[in-house]
Amino acid sequence: MPSSILRRAGARVRAGVRRAARRAVCGAVVTSVLAACGGGGDSAGTPPTEPRPPASADTFALRALATAKGIRLGTAIDRGLRTGGTAGTSFRALVARHFSSLTAENDMKHQRLQPQRGVYAWGGADSIVAFAETHGMQVRGHTLVWHQQNAAWLANGTWTADEARALLVDHVTTVATRYRGRIAAWDVVNEAFEDDGTLRNSVWQRTLGADYIALAFRTAAAADPQARLFYNDYGIEWPGRKQDSTYALVQRLLAAGVPIHGVGFQAHFQAGQLPPNFAGTLQRFAALGLDVHITELDVRVRTPSTATDRATQAQNYRDVVAACLQVSRCTSLTIWGVSDGDSWVPSTFAGWGDALPWDAALQPKPAFAALYAVLAGR
Ligand code: XIL
Repeated sequence: MPSSILRRAGARVRAGVRRAARRAVCGAVVTSVLAACGGGGDSAGTPPTEPRPPASADTFALRALATAKGIRLGTAIDRGLRTGGTAGTSFRALVARHFSSLTAENDMKHQRLQPQRGVYAWGGADSIVAFAETHGMQVRGHTLVWHQQNAAWLANGTWTADEARALLVDHVTTVATRYRGRIAAWDVVNEAFEDDGTLRNSVWQRTLGADYIALAFRTAAAADPQARLFYNDYGIEWPGRKQDSTYALVQRLLAAGVPIHGVGFQAHFQAGQLPPNFAGTLQRFAALGLDVHITELDVRVRTPSTATDRATQAQNYRDVVAACLQVSRCTSLTIWGVSDGDSWVPSTFAGWGDALPWDAALQPKPAFAALYAVLAGR
């Protein structure tokens, strides 16, 4: 029997055993779910280790509900992991409780890993991987080859094709080898297309042309044969030229025998503006024989936000999860951060914020209740 069926069956049994407790403690109405099930209520002190005790509170974790539905629920973390004091303890407990996949928001990017040419700095990335392993979470590696957040020495250098090829191969090989066997999925190439669907002008495209993409995938596969290898981008959730260019790219890569296993849809959305037929889009790529992951979900609202905004946002979170649940190859859904206090949105999109399921005080928002409900099958 496939392990996913066993996993689902096991989770159903456990859920059934605790059904009464859930009703008593968690309640059926949204406000009770928020009060009983949202925050990092795990007692402070030592972080839990795997296998985690079957504390009744875990029945209420998004992580358990998502696992029962056959998907990994992930988050991206950066500063929060290293925050000291009670704030850091509650943050880490909440992450371990609700998520079973972890992405480094910045710690696995080129500028953090190779700040000087040939000099690698592993501290941040190592701590993310160690945290994930301690808590039985998978890691999504992000990202090996990108046009942004490259170290200044790389971004500002002038390189021949041979030099660029050697730099790409060295970086991908060194990073993927260090974490060999410990990364479930790598975003091998990130954001290779402009919004109009043409190949993006990047250090890699200027020096190597489109061939850098296949080179990156082949190099990653050689270094870590177990990792699932992804192309990741934003805006491809919408029908149009960028989505079509991505589709054509992965078709070409597959036809050429390049080891690519999935497409990541970043899913940085504005409240009230979800792409039409997102499940259909996920299925379009899944039909190529690929995994589809939602890799960076957030739903931003105009700030200061209103209760109506937060309700719309909650419905949008619900709809995105529902789209993933409709597609059997949609096996992982990562939210780009935990709390509104850590989100990249306010500093990137002026006038926008409050994009995540927990507020800056780590209190669950209506979006949390919506995630809970859809993952619980309500
Ligand atoms: C963002 C991080 O969240 C920020 O902290 C950082 O300053 C810039 O990058 N697409 C991606 C992510 O693939 O790596 C980006 O992350 C968000 C957009």
